[in-house]
Formats: sequence, C-alpha cells, structure tokens
Amino acid sequence: MIFDILTLFPEMFLSPLKESIIGKACEEGVITVNLTNIRDYAEGRHRVTDDYPYGGGKGMIMKPEPIIRGIKAIRSRHPEAWVILMTPQGNPLRQEVAKRLAHVSHIILVCGRYEGVDERVRDVVDEEISIGDYVLTGGEPAALVVIDAVSRLIPGVLGDKDSSEEDSFSQGLLEYPQYTRPREFEGRKVPEVLLSGDHQTIEQWRRRESLRRTCERRPDLLTDAELSKEDQAFCDELKGASGTRGKIGRPR
Ligand code: ADE
Repeated sequence: MIFDILTLFPEMFLSPLKESIIGKACEEGVITVNLTNIRDYAEGRHRVTDDYPYGGGKGMIMKPEPIIRGIKAIRSRHPEAWVILMTPQGNPLRQEVAKRLAHVSHIILVCGRYEGVDERVRDVVDEEISIGDYVLTGGEPAALVVIDAVSRLIPGVLGDKDSSEEDSFSQGLLEYPQYTRPREFEGRKVPEVLLSGDHQTIEQWRRRESLRRTCERRPDLLTDAELSKEDQAFCDELKGASGTRGKIGRPR
C-alpha cells in the first residue's frame, strides 16, 4: 500500500512514521509513505503557496496551482491513486471508512494549512475526510491518523496476537474491559469470571460489558450495530435500570 502526502511540512511525518507498528510496516515495505513538499510545485523566486482571500477576511488561503500540480504529478505516474483532502468539512473518519480505504492500493493525502485551501482544489480530489469536529492547525496530524487507522487493517501490519478483529468499532460496539496481572492492585480485583477458565461464560460477560459500555458512552453506535435478540434484551434491561430513556441533548 502506498501513501503519498502533499504537505508544506514533510518533516512533521518523519518521527511518527519511524516508531512502533507503523515504523516496522514502513521498514518492511508493507506500507510506503512518500512525502512531497507542496512548495516544490510553487512558482517564482519565493515559491509562494498562499495568498489573501478574495472578498476580504482574516487569514491566508492556500493557492490552488501548487496543490493541483502536485496531485497531477503523482497521478501521472499512478493514475489509480485515490486523492483525499484532509479538512474539517470532510466525511467523518469512521472504522468503516478506514476498512474501505484499506482496500485501496495508492492514496494521496492532501494536507491543507492556514485558513483553508482554494475551493478549486476540491474539483480534483476524490474524497474529503475529517478526523473529528475540531479544527487543527493543518491537515498533517489528520493525515497521520488516516495512515495509522488504515495501515493497521492491512494484512501483515499487525501480528496475529494484535488482530484488529476485536477492536472497538470493528463490530460496531466499544471494546469490553481488559485486565492483566496482577490479580489485585491497590485493592481492586480482576473480575472473578475472567479467572474461571469457562470460555463460554467469559464470552457472554465480554459481550455484555461491550454492550454496557456502548449503551453508557456511545448509545449512538447501537443503531448500526448488529444485535442479537439476547443483546437487545440486555440493552433494554440496561436502559430500564439507568432511567436514561427519553433524555436527549446536552445537559444545560
Ligand atoms: N484540518 C484541520 N482540521 C482538520 C480535521 N478535523 N480533520 C481533517 N483535517 C483537518
């Protein structure tokens, strides 16, 4: 899998891509990340990449020509590449988006800076992605999030023992609580059921804790999760017990 990054700050990627699981995947060539400075495609002695907004207003806008030339240069060598613009206005990055992108062989991630990019850049991209409802100083950290979330789904990136199949979200639910040694820490014990060796009971406990956590923290996820009749009954029980039914919106 190849990622091409178009950015004004390629150095922001160097250290994060050297470390840990993604670092190893790069080293082994399971993923390749190419960095291109947008400034290399800017013209003139000063290689200017931004300008004032037409109509007035605060901040600078990234000029369209250097970004579009950069995209075209990569695309001329790799016509199949899928171009993604990182922007808070984009499609929210969810696990199913990461799963879809893990099947794409070549992704170009375009990182905007300043107050945004010239609207005409949107005409040449295939997709826009946001990593959440907050504004970053630029698309670079967001691009790193995409690389991480997508790469770990590519076969060979995670070892078998770190399989992504039981992740939070992979089944539409948050993950159940996990424990390791010691059995007791500062008076807090590992739930007895996990020490029982009874795999069926452990599975049932985990499923229920997953549902409990999702009901409590992210009830919005339940609408899309695949729930059995038993799961549904357990959720109804939880809702009845907490008395949260009917409470909608932010507390004032
Ligand atoms: N650039 C600035 N903020 C962003 C966000 N939330 N997601 C993606 N790109 C961004």
